[in-house]
Amino acid sequence: MNIKTVQTKPFEGQRPGTSGLRKKVDVFQQPGYLENFVQSVFNSLENFKGKTLVIGGDGRYFNREAIQVIIKMAVANGFGELMIGKGGLMSTPATSCIIRKYKAFGGLILSASHNPGGPGQDFGIKYNIENGGPAPEKITEGIYEQTKKITEYKIADTADVDLDTLGEKVLGETRIKIIDSVIDYTEMMSKLFDFDLIKRLFQKGFTMRYDAMNAVTGPYAKHILEKVLGAKAGTVVHGEPKDDFGGLHPDPNLVYAKSLVDFMFSNEATDFGAASDGDGDRNMILGNHFYVNPSDSLALIVANFWNAPGYDRGLTGVARSMPTSSAVDRVARGMGMSCYETPTGWKFFGNLLDANKATICGEESFGTGSNHVREKDGLWAILYWLNIIAATGLSVSELVKKHWKKYGRNFYSRYDFEKVDSAAANAMFDEMRASAASQEGKFYGNYEVEKFDDFEYIDPVDKSVSSHQGIRVLFKDGSRIIYRLSGTGTSGATVRIYIEKYEPDNSKHGMDPQEALADLVEIAYQISGIKAKTGKQKPDVIT
Ligand code: G1P
Ligand code: ZN
Repeated sequence: MNIKTVQTKPFEGQRPGTSGLRKKVDVFQQPGYLENFVQSVFNSLENFKGKTLVIGGDGRYFNREAIQVIIKMAVANGFGELMIGKGGLMSTPATSCIIRKYKAFGGLILSASHNPGGPGQDFGIKYNIENGGPAPEKITEGIYEQTKKITEYKIADTADVDLDTLGEKVLGETRIKIIDSVIDYTEMMSKLFDFDLIKRLFQKGFTMRYDAMNAVTGPYAKHILEKVLGAKAGTVVHGEPKDDFGGLHPDPNLVYAKSLVDFMFSNEATDFGAASDGDGDRNMILGNHFYVNPSDSLALIVANFWNAPGYDRGLTGVARSMPTSSAVDRVARGMGMSCYETPTGWKFFGNLLDANKATICGEESFGTGSNHVREKDGLWAILYWLNIIAATGLSVSELVKKHWKKYGRNFYSRYDFEKVDSAAANAMFDEMRASAASQEGKFYGNYEVEKFDDFEYIDPVDKSVSSHQGIRVLFKDGSRIIYRLSGTGTSGATVRIYIEKYEPDNSKHGMDPQEALADLVEIAYQISGIKAKTGKQKPDVIT
């Protein structure tokens, strides 16, 4: 087989963000753009000759074409084996599972997660290391350095590989395996959760709706929920992966999973509702007429670990991203467990999980997971909830209300301002940073600023330092306002404002979060001056 060496020149801006390189698909479709990035990944790695690379994708537009390019480049660069999801499909958590289970060298995941797909929409690629998790910053920065000096890439001159037939073939010196990761993933879930107990729950007439949002989890959810656990046929809706997600924005939140939310607040509502995102690592949990905030979901999962066979021997610790509410901290404190606060992005949990310092991790952005893989895992969280419901006999709302009664409620909301002018957004952050020294001790209404800083994280395992991870305004009463710039957006800047307030008084727990947080929201606007500085009068998405 002929291996071609193609001359190329660097493209600007190939620096991986919160979760890999994300761009509009037409950027990726430029000749050489994807090739440069993939070759830069390979150039930054050592000793992979003859080893296994896993390739998965969420099935979005350009997924198949990109996989063909990657196969030919991986062959040309000397990988010994490629494990590829059938049809080019493999959810992000399943890819992590496959990398770990088959001791692969690493994996490439083609996804822009919860961002829309289709022509003119988003595409993305990220590299995961041998522990199955996203490459840490020192590796992603190494890749970025390679993208700036690349001069050529290698590609095999060969026909496209059939991605739709399971089995093995050999291309040059590389074995190509087309696999069905649903089987491996299901096996892993069956060891973590009490499938018999959940089966009995469904047998007793428990009802559920799972919205796969026309994305990658449809086949996994149909197999596990309907086939293995016996949920009614039709439990999984939007279950066929489509390359444009059927026009849906595959982000499981109150805004983009509206049809599920409307259904769960209607007279036909099932007992349990859930959704996952484009690549299957996010989750949203709903009860009959009840929405569970992701930060509360994390706290509740941790508090109820004894219900799930995979965790009932105890947790070593927990971790949450900095903007995530501190509800889980209260549970950890109550249980005498360590609770780590990391920057946003799953890659920061990898070291804690590897070092056994944390068993369960989570983010406010509908992401929860554990040490079973090194990615967040949407279906895992949903099965965990099913396990808790089956073990306790309580409904979703009963579980959450009971939790608040015991630990108090952390009212929480995130405001997203999308497509903001980047220069204006950066100037706003610079001004806030510059004001830090004068903020401490200042009163905003009844709230006194205790600390005002730009979050910096020192990894407790490898001591690496990550700075500028978000501005924190911490008030004396435990309330918090956090400002961050998104690292996953593809047009302009996205400003995220996270608002949190702790309420121990059970009689106030039924309040609407927006009402409970209204005064802090005004303070958040005042401190940042966001309306005047960006011209945006209100957020695009509130979760
Ligand atoms: C967002 C979320 C973050 C999550 C990431 C990948 O990143 O906020 O928690 O890890 O997507 O799913 P951001 O756009 O805020 O950088
Ligand atoms: Zn995702």
